[in-house]
Amino acid sequence: MYKAIQVNQDTWWVGVNDRETDMFESLWCLPQGVAYNAYLVNGTKATAAIDTVKGPWFDEYINKLEDALNGRALNYLVINHMEPDHAGLISQLKRKYADLKFIGNAKTVPLLKGYHGIESDVLVVKDGDVLDLGGHVLKFATVPMLHWPESMVTFDDSTGVLFSNDSFGGFGAHEGGLFDDEKVDARWQDEMLRYYAAIVAKYSNIVQVALKKLGGLEIKNIFPSHGTLFRSDVQKVMKLYDKWSKHEGEVGAVVAYGSMYGNTRRMAEAVCAGLSAAKIQDVRLYDVSRTDLSYVLRDIWRFKGFALLSCTYNTQLFPNMESLCSKLLNRMPKNKFVGVAGSYSWSKGALTALQDYAEKSKLTRVTPEPEIYTSPTHEDLEKCFELGKNLGEAIR
Ligand code: FEO
Repeated sequence: MYKAIQVNQDTWWVGVNDRETDMFESLWCLPQGVAYNAYLVNGTKATAAIDTVKGPWFDEYINKLEDALNGRALNYLVINHMEPDHAGLISQLKRKYADLKFIGNAKTVPLLKGYHGIESDVLVVKDGDVLDLGGHVLKFATVPMLHWPESMVTFDDSTGVLFSNDSFGGFGAHEGGLFDDEKVDARWQDEMLRYYAAIVAKYSNIVQVALKKLGGLEIKNIFPSHGTLFRSDVQKVMKLYDKWSKHEGEVGAVVAYGSMYGNTRRMAEAVCAGLSAAKIQDVRLYDVSRTDLSYVLRDIWRFKGFALLSCTYNTQLFPNMESLCSKLLNRMPKNKFVGVAGSYSWSKGALTALQDYAEKSKLTRVTPEPEIYTSPTHEDLEKCFELGKNLGEAIR
């Protein structure tokens, strides 16, 4: 038997902690798991589930949902987002509750048909439309491309709860309490920023639009569909989203390298020493072969500067560095300083490719951009140190 957890008046958490999936979207590692937060609002006239969970977790979800329903039928499912980690159980819910009505917007309709073959019993809402459950009036706001076209959020006027779906979400399954005041900040903030960098960052300009749109609501709680639930200080978390979506970096730097035999690693270490000489205390050195790139992206988003160093592999960039550059170009962090350096043995290639990335990134480049043959000499390492020092001075 599973129990639902009451999280506000007539409002229940019926989500699932997934500690078994290794990779979110088959791309991002999950050492602390991930939570699919789903909710039920029990009005006096009607009941509404807010999102579901990922497909394999039907039994646990339905047990919690039934516990929260306490013998009542489920009348509505609000579909804030059609991605299968939240919409995975829509077909099963319809089979269980034949009279169930779905709430979505115009962009939800084709996805609902495509994923679940459902075309009927869909109530299409637009910005500002409401659903009165009795004692709880749900208000809908679309947030297109945050991060899918049909994405929307749902606000409960009576409790002040914003069901924000992926927005304000974070990696990490719940360990004990669900709420922000039951955890230390660093525990949820790091995983929230990693989620932001991996999933949301590309749409940072849309986050800004959404924050303004939500500004008129009296939000008392933010209940996202992943990670921590916020009730103690929603302004704090909104300020974080504002900062990240405005590309405001902290003083600190990432040095990421791809190295086969340690020569490029030694160059990267010299860049770190230069950063340290420029009094940058928060320096994070990442081997792109041994670090999930979500951590590298997270800290690039966090700080004001980064350096990329790569050996040449088959005349081109080292593959994992190529992957990092591709992910950065997809997300386009702004207001940062970037330094690059490359190495080669029998064919050049890495530095030119990194310079090409730096050009396309539109970030401010820091020199020198060392290119080193085989194993770095003392003079070569001096150049890398100089790159780090200049990067550090630019950041400060
Ligand atoms: Fe958590 Fe975009 O799904």
